[in-house]
Amino acid sequence: MSLEPRPHFHFAPARNWMNDPNGLIFYRGKYHLFFQYNPEGDQWGNMSWGHATSTDLIIWQELPVAISYTPTHAIFSGSAVVDYFNTTGFGSVENPAMVAIFTAHQHDGLHQSQSLAYSTDDGMTWQMYEKNPVLDLEMKDFRDPKVMWNTVNEAWVMSVVKPQEFTVSFYESQDLKQWELLSEFTNKNGTDGVWECPDLFPLAVDGDSTKFKWVLFVSVNPGGVTSGSGTQFFIGDWNGKEFVADEITTRWLDYGRDNYAGVTFNDAPDNRRIYLGWMNNWDYAKDIPANSARGSMTIPRELSLVTIDGKITLLQNPVKEILGSGIGDQNFTITPMESKTGIRFTNEDGKSFDIGYDPQRKEIYVDRSSAWYEIESTSRHAAPFDAQENSFEIRVITDTGSVELFVHGGRISITDLLLPSGSSWSTSPF
Ligand code: FRU
Repeated sequence: MSLEPRPHFHFAPARNWMNDPNGLIFYRGKYHLFFQYNPEGDQWGNMSWGHATSTDLIIWQELPVAISYTPTHAIFSGSAVVDYFNTTGFGSVENPAMVAIFTAHQHDGLHQSQSLAYSTDDGMTWQMYEKNPVLDLEMKDFRDPKVMWNTVNEAWVMSVVKPQEFTVSFYESQDLKQWELLSEFTNKNGTDGVWECPDLFPLAVDGDSTKFKWVLFVSVNPGGVTSGSGTQFFIGDWNGKEFVADEITTRWLDYGRDNYAGVTFNDAPDNRRIYLGWMNNWDYAKDIPANSARGSMTIPRELSLVTIDGKITLLQNPVKEILGSGIGDQNFTITPMESKTGIRFTNEDGKSFDIGYDPQRKEIYVDRSSAWYEIESTSRHAAPFDAQENSFEIRVITDTGSVELFVHGGRISITDLLLPSGSSWSTSPF
């Protein structure tokens, strides 16, 4: 099979398999992206943390593998913090340690627990904590810790999932080593698969830094909105102990097939909340043709909360660094008519995909049936959207092998891989 071309500006490792973003953190002028990585092949396995850094979220420099699998354990997903107060004793206040909190997955698949590794050279080299694991319930499935310093608690707070029980557990610690259970969150939505990769974080409402709400992300696989992998989220309050959702209806972060296991950066400057997802779907991640690597990330996205018609709404938009970076993002103004309106994108080989608005079904959609291949039958991915205005904008980012839509100021996102992966698309309205 011939190799697919590589994406131009989406992060992908030089070679081999990649899935979830891990340990997203900003430190000393650099964004660090760690990721689920197989250093030895282009299929899932030997899970380790790959590493890349960027000063602008657009150009990434891949670095040597940060945390390698061991003879007994794989290094599954998790997060990173900078221990500025040296609560762990791993570094010093002058030179704080970067600490990774990850799931140690026993190779026989029978045991998962949370463990630490640390670095005192900006994430370049890592030591395992000698008293691992730090949180162990003797469970087969217990994973994906996301840790942050929580000013409500004046402590480290971890969100971590019991995937088979559709439960996010919240723990607190003063030193990242001893953890106490605070509470658990569960609900009946999004329970067709397992829960993975939680993330709990505060966001200012309407840009007012005195008014915060808390957002909880939970990835679900399968059983996402397009049936495979997907991410649901809840908006609510965190009182230092419990997360209470305002509403228990499932809201989906993305209505495409290819945005999973996304989480946000810790410590991003200016209180920015920046998100990256794995641009893929477990339904077919191992089967799609590879380029020199297999798997890429979404474009980095900035999250915000705004009140629209009295309802607090999560917006998702490409980070502002994209402007002026030469990345081809296009804006289309859609003027709803009685029948469908949209844009057809056609590449040099005559393959095409459509984006559009369907006023009858009140939907925004991507239809990739002519830019996809036989492994999947449902190729039209739609989000509920009732256009109230005379016109609205769709921002579209196309790269080799993908399209990302940001609708009406970021109220809806649809992310889809494309094959065959044309790189120059011409557009025509319909
Ligand atoms: C999500 C996930 C995580 C796990 C990792 C293993 O895609 O299944 O739950 O930690 O991938 O690679």
